[in-house]
Parts: sequence; C-alpha cells; structure tokens
Amino acid sequence: MGVINFGSMNVDHVYSMPHFVQPGETLQSGAYHIYCGGKGLNQSVAAARAGAKTMHAGMAGKGGDMLLDFLRSNNVDLSMIGLPDIPQGHAIIQVSESGENSIILFRGSNFAVTRSYIDSVLDRQQEPQYVILQNEISEVPYVIDAAFRKGFPVVLNASPFDDSLLEIDLSKVTWLLVNEIEGGCLTGETDPDAILAKLREKSPKTGVVLTLGKEGSICASGDRVIRQGIFPVQAVDTTGAGDTFTGYFIAGLDAHLDLSEALRRAAAASAIAVTRPGAAPSIPMAEEVTAFLQERQ
Ligand code: RIB
Repeated sequence: MGVINFGSMNVDHVYSMPHFVQPGETLQSGAYHIYCGGKGLNQSVAAARAGAKTMHAGMAGKGGDMLLDFLRSNNVDLSMIGLPDIPQGHAIIQVSESGENSIILFRGSNFAVTRSYIDSVLDRQQEPQYVILQNEISEVPYVIDAAFRKGFPVVLNASPFDDSLLEIDLSKVTWLLVNEIEGGCLTGETDPDAILAKLREKSPKTGVVLTLGKEGSICASGDRVIRQGIFPVQAVDTTGAGDTFTGYFIAGLDAHLDLSEALRRAAAASAIAVTRPGAAPSIPMAEEVTAFLQERQ
C-alpha cells in the first residue's frame, strides 16, 4: 500500500548540556551539532528504512535543502513537496548527560501547509495509502477529514500535544499513537489502563498504541491487547526515539506483519536509535533491526 506522511521537517540544532538550562541561568554547552529532524521527517525516514514505500508531503522552506537531500538519500518520494519562500522550521534541542532532551520548536515552513496543497497531494493518489500525521504542521484536522473521505487509513501520532487535538474526530483515525502524557491530555486519565479504556470508549474502532517510556508500550486493536517491553540499552540521545517507533510500526503494518511483530520491531528500532546521537541519523536500517533481534532471541 505505502505511506504518505504529511509531516514537519526541521533543522535540529543540538547542544550537549550538563543539565537543562534553568530560568535565569546562562550555561555553556558542550558539543554542538546540526542534524536533520522534525517529527515528520524522522517518521518518513524510519518508515522508508524499515522498507515501506514512503512519500513525504510537507513544506521545505529556505534553508531546508539538507533535509530534502537527506530524505532523497533514504528513498523517500519528494515529488509533492511544497517550496514556499519562507524560513525552514527548526528546533533548538538540549541533550542532557543522561540522554534526555528538551526542545524549542520554530514552526516556519511547517505551518505553510494549506488545504489546497493537501487536496492536490491526495487527489494524485490512485491507490489507498497509510496517511501519517503528527502535530507539527498546519491543517492537521483537514488532512484527517480529507484522507478519511477518500477511505485511506489515517495514523495520528498526537505529538506534540496541544488543545487543537481535543477537536479531532477520533472515529476517523485508524491508528492513534500517544505517550502517557498525550493520552492523559486526551482523556483526563493518568493510569495507562484507564487512558487506554477511555480512548477505546471514545472510538472503539481506532487501534491505539500507548507508549510508556521504560515500561514499553501497550497496543489495543479490536479484541487484542498486546504489551511490548523495551530492549534495555545505554541511552546517548533519546531524540527521535518515538518517531523511530512510529515509522517502524506503520511500516510493519504496511508489510502485513502480525501486530506483535510490528511492535517488537518498532521497540527494537527505537532502542537502537537511542544509542546514537541525533534524530533522523540515529534511525537504524531494517537489517540492523533484524540482527539486533536475532542477538536477543
Ligand atoms: O521527535 C523529535 C523531533 O521533535 C526533533 O527532531 C525535533 O525537530 C522536533 O520536531
């Protein structure tokens, strides 16, 4: 079937910090690197590296050439990319010594996605595709409505969360991927099982993947509930780990893997990603994931 990802692209400015900067504090950084990132780009790269035929739809602004080069070199179809004459979105990312991150986003070109652009991308598709979305572009609800009208399965990664997501009609979403905080905001619950139950009550037909950090993930779809643990590794940089998980999970569905296998490969891919610096460059190839899992059998 394949994947169309209506997603953000960011130039990630990444600073290694002894700790996150506190209010009123001025702090020297250690290493500074520029990487390709953005939740959308990361998920497109993950899906493509996992083996899915992937198109990235979104807006590349001024300063975004390195992002397009990176996507192209990962066999992501860029034939429908928009090229507005405004600055590319970027992120300022602090990475602490324990590998955690703290991110400031500048939306830039990512919010130049328009309804007519979305229609033009979807109108060109002859066959159904998984339509993937995160919450880093403009017109997210419109993409969901338009893809649903065409009968395409919609995958929403509700990240980063803001109140606009409370307006989404979840019954149009085939797969929802959330972490505990995002799931909590959508449901008003804090306990993972209660979050899952509330989401399923709101939209019984929507498959849900709830990621729980060190506790792994829970997937509920139809009458199946699957729990997937994490693969313990030494984390260097967790940026993009959730995106790696999402891209691999959807590629697994696209390849008709059993749900449990799609989750296992997604968990393995994100475990590998956190052992490396950067967002998009840390995403493993499918063969690495297979070898990683074989070593752990
Ligand atoms: O999920 C990680 C991503 O979030 C980073 O690459 C950054 O660009 C922000 O979009």
